[in-house]
Amino acid sequence: MSQDGEKRKVAVRAAGLVQDGMAVGIGTGSTSRMFIEELGARVKREGLRIRCVASSNASHELGASLGLEVVTLNELPELDIYIDGADEVGPGLALIKGGGGALLREKIVASAATRFVVIVDSSKVVPQLGKFPLPVEVIKMAKPLVEGKLTKLGYNPVQRKHVGGSDYLTDENNFILDCHCDTIPDPVKTAAEIRAIVGVVEHGLFLHMGSLALVATPEGVRELNP
Ligand code: A5P
Repeated sequence: MSQDGEKRKVAVRAAGLVQDGMAVGIGTGSTSRMFIEELGARVKREGLRIRCVASSNASHELGASLGLEVVTLNELPELDIYIDGADEVGPGLALIKGGGGALLREKIVASAATRFVVIVDSSKVVPQLGKFPLPVEVIKMAKPLVEGKLTKLGYNPVQRKHVGGSDYLTDENNFILDCHCDTIPDPVKTAAEIRAIVGVVEHGLFLHMGSLALVATPEGVRELNP
């Protein structure tokens, strides 16, 4: 089965977890996009009354365009469930997120939810995190400072740019430094080291946050627990 076929399968399964009356966090990225489409289809078909909070402007707009009631976290600060993709899923459901640049809002929305269900295709499950570059969101004025400190720590930061060379900006108008670590043997230590740098807004290590991962494989959807 193609990677898109796997993503669709897991998106359908995740949409099935949503029940009438729930407050639902909707994530960002290509797998989340499919989940939002499937959720929109269920709402139309079954008349579910749900309210959603999105982890990016793009997902907010997509959800609204599909007929979902999408509100802000200020209006709905407690969520029953947050469903989102990931770039890597390591042991204990340690995650790297932020390949799509939405890590800050994703972490905020995930932390507002009772359950965080991660939806991925089988290529995302790894024995150790770090092959996927770890995104670090930084305040613009602090970029050279943070870049220098990340380099000293051996994290090989590279500023994210658009094709064509202009600066990539997050929904919160910050820069992203992608850290080419290759391996992250101790995610807790790495998270603490990066968080301690003044000027860092957030990093893409999501530790002890996931409640369940739904992993699409050619044989079906596998469940992973922390
Ligand atoms: C968005 O910022 C990310 O955290 C995504 O959730 C992650 O990059 C997974 O995206 P895909 O589903 O497109 O692989």
